[in-house]
Amino acid sequence: MDSSDEESDQEYLFKVVIIGDSAVGKSNLLTRYAKNEFNMHSKSTIGVEFQTQTMEIDGKEVKAQIWDTAGQERFRAVTSAYYRGAVGALVVYDISRSTTFESVTRWLEELKTHSDTTVARMLVGNKCDLNNIRAVSIEDGKNLAEKEGLFFMETSALDSTNVKTAFEMVIREIY
Ligand code: GTP
Ligand code: MG
Repeated sequence: MDSSDEESDQEYLFKVVIIGDSAVGKSNLLTRYAKNEFNMHSKSTIGVEFQTQTMEIDGKEVKAQIWDTAGQERFRAVTSAYYRGAVGALVVYDISRSTTFESVTRWLEELKTHSDTTVARMLVGNKCDLNNIRAVSIEDGKNLAEKEGLFFMETSALDSTNVKTAFEMVIREIY
């Protein structure tokens, strides 16, 4: 295959960022989606990591470059560079820790401050496998998403629930 063939095969490349408090499962959502891997003992992300994932929409190959950084300020990538050019965002909280849900508004504000275009946004309540120690109701998640005009989904990077769907809904919306 020469380079022009390659180009026509990959017509779209979208940048998607994952944001949310530390340990909500951002990195595991990404590795579950991109590599079907999960790490029970993953360490905090330092700086920025990304994965490129391809999906097909209407017979076209669509590539998403998905960026992941630390939730904790001191480990984070340079904020403006992280958001630059992003057209999609997953805003993640942990359904078993309400503080992570309370932070969502702050993450949305940061996203708004640093993004230059319209961004397709999905509110993600991760760790829905921990239903027995749930601290944030599905209703609360839904209501916040509705109020802020976001998509909403509960996911589990552990058991794979809705992970693919969440990423692909955002990518589809951008496309
Ligand atoms: P930072 O990089 O510090 O911002 O954290 P993060 O949001 O990337 O979290 P990470 O993916 O590293 O996950 C933190 C912890 O939560 C790890 O111990 C994971 O194994 C665990 N975890 C992630 N997703 C899930 C999930 O869906 N269910 C359960 N039960 N645990 C999860
Ligand atoms: Mg991480």
